[in-house]
Amino acid sequence: MHEPFNPSHATQPAATAPVREPLVRVQGLTMAFGSAVIQRDLSFDILPGEVLALAGGSGCGKSTLLRHLIGLQTPAKGRVLYGTQDLYEADDDARTTLLQSFGVMFQAGALWSSMTVGENVMLPMQVLTDMDAGSREREARFKLALVGLAGSFDAEPATLSGGMRKRAAIARALALDPPLLFLDEPSAGLDPLTSAHLDELIMHLRDDLGTTVVMVSHELESIFALADRLLFLDARSKTMTALGPPKALRSNGPEDVQRFLRRGAVPNAKEAHA
Ligand SMILES: Nc1ncnc2c1ncn2[C@@H]1O[C@H](COP(=O)(O)OP(=O)(O)O)[C@@H](O)[C@H]1O
Ligand SMILES: [Mg+2]
Repeated sequence: MHEPFNPSHATQPAATAPVREPLVRVQGLTMAFGSAVIQRDLSFDILPGEVLALAGGSGCGKSTLLRHLIGLQTPAKGRVLYGTQDLYEADDDARTTLLQSFGVMFQAGALWSSMTVGENVMLPMQVLTDMDAGSREREARFKLALVGLAGSFDAEPATLSGGMRKRAAIARALALDPPLLFLDEPSAGLDPLTSAHLDELIMHLRDDLGTTVVMVSHELESIFALADRLLFLDARSKTMTALGPPKALRSNGPEDVQRFLRRGAVPNAKEAHA
């Protein structure tokens, strides 16, 4: 019997919920491409209503971890559990339910260039729900307004700035009101103002909608402003070396993690091998 992950926003705020059952449990996860191990023995929970930041040197496996969390890459070892459901052993129905419960913005924030911004945001509704055209448009306009792109429904993606495209990709990730949102470097390459805007949006999603957010980020400002916990993947030892509130890790974490949280400096995988 399956007990599918419940895609609702009915998570309680941290302050009033003494016991928080994890939304996701990662157990003994080893990730590899062929015989090349990227990270091993990752075990951590994703708690409802938290912003969990993923950090670590370039090439250490952050994007790869996101792919494992959303069903795109099968673990070499270990499990990813949503509730009691193993993501990689779910039958098609359970898997579809799971996939509908999260929104994803990939690192490139890619939009379909042949479609307008509005059509991009409506796409998940068209593919995954039976919403009628009117509801889809209403919902897409609402999501675009939420990310500060109210006027861009009919725009071609190519006419938007990089920051606007990222926000449009986030609006698309939000299309189905996912209780769980995965963002891969949402503010990388954005100007500080747009980046601060994005931080506010993410905070609003967590605090007002109870959305759980897993976010790859190097931006110290975002991490300290937003992240309830930081998971640090070490490129050298190829495993996680820290998990906890960023401020606590800045004063008490491993040396590399402290250095990153003070100065933003992380060794990348290539330097780590040298
Ligand atoms: N499709 C692939 N095939 C083989 N190796 C890959 C593939 N994608 C990524 N890698 C390797 O896996 C490691 C982790 O990549 P990635 O998860 O993108 O790192 P990060 O997001 O932390 O910068 C890198 O060394 C990268 O070269
Ligand atoms: Mg990456």
